[in-house]
Amino acid sequence: MHPSEKEFADLLDYYQINYLYEPRSFPLRWDGSRVVEMFTPDFYLPEYDQYFELTTMKQNLVTQKNRKLRRVREMYPEVNVQLLYRKDLMRLMGKYGFGPLSGVSVEGTERVLFDEALVQRRVRELGAQITEDYAGEEPVLIGVLRGVVVFMADLMRAVDLPVQVEFMEITHYGEERQESLDVIRDVTTDLSGRHALVVEDIADTGLTLRYLREHLQAKGPASLRVCALLDKSVRRMTNVRLDYVGFEIPDEFVIGYGLDYGGRYRNLPYIGVLQPLEPKAVAQR
Ligand code: PRP
Repeated sequence: MHPSEKEFADLLDYYQINYLYEPRSFPLRWDGSRVVEMFTPDFYLPEYDQYFELTTMKQNLVTQKNRKLRRVREMYPEVNVQLLYRKDLMRLMGKYGFGPLSGVSVEGTERVLFDEALVQRRVRELGAQITEDYAGEEPVLIGVLRGVVVFMADLMRAVDLPVQVEFMEITHYGEERQESLDVIRDVTTDLSGRHALVVEDIADTGLTLRYLREHLQAKGPASLRVCALLDKSVRRMTNVRLDYVGFEIPDEFVIGYGLDYGGRYRNLPYIGVLQPLEPKAVAQR
């Protein structure tokens, strides 16, 4: 394995995701009956029926790879294959507790994406929608520490229903590399027969939500939905359903309104894009 493949494999292990390494080759061109070109994606995730191809190459080589990938998609339309670029990997690794962001010095906000008034208005709209959808019920709002605290504090006050609020904590992109994702602090309310609504500040790869859904579903709630303030769907690695979304955001590192960089900026009242001093080195989260 290439070192980046090893890192990706470690990440999948962390999230307890099964994978197969290079399990299959797709013939792309033949000379008579002889295969002269084929494509062997690096990873296959059976639970998602998803292939991943990692690339750490120079741009001109990536272009070739992209061409190959297009051909795979044409010839094997039923096959889901995604290319992960070097920057994608760096971002994932950065989240995982090590990586390029840790060494980058930052100034603050490069630009404001959603100002305070806009965020507040959107949160009120989400609250009104939740109030309508759960009319007559007493939902349990479940937040995952720590990024969610600001959003949760505003959202719960925008919901005009009796609600219960719970916070969970999971091992998560810490300083130390964790063996695997785990719940450190669980909900204390009995969820069986209750309407559970997971509240998240951001859905990025979606892996946290996938894990949470599974974990909470096992507690037998009457319903289980997800409300995420920010949806960076372009980064999604797994299909997770988001029932309520505040804003769709571009593939940039965002801070403020609970979201941090290195523990800072959570208390900004707006949501902004991080200003790196070494713009080229920046990676997500
Ligand atoms: C953020 C966020 C989600 C998670 C989403 O947490 O609060 O829990 O990332 O990412 P994913 O979709 O790629 O799994 P973070 O690790 O930044 O911790 P924090 O909430 O303590 O800031």
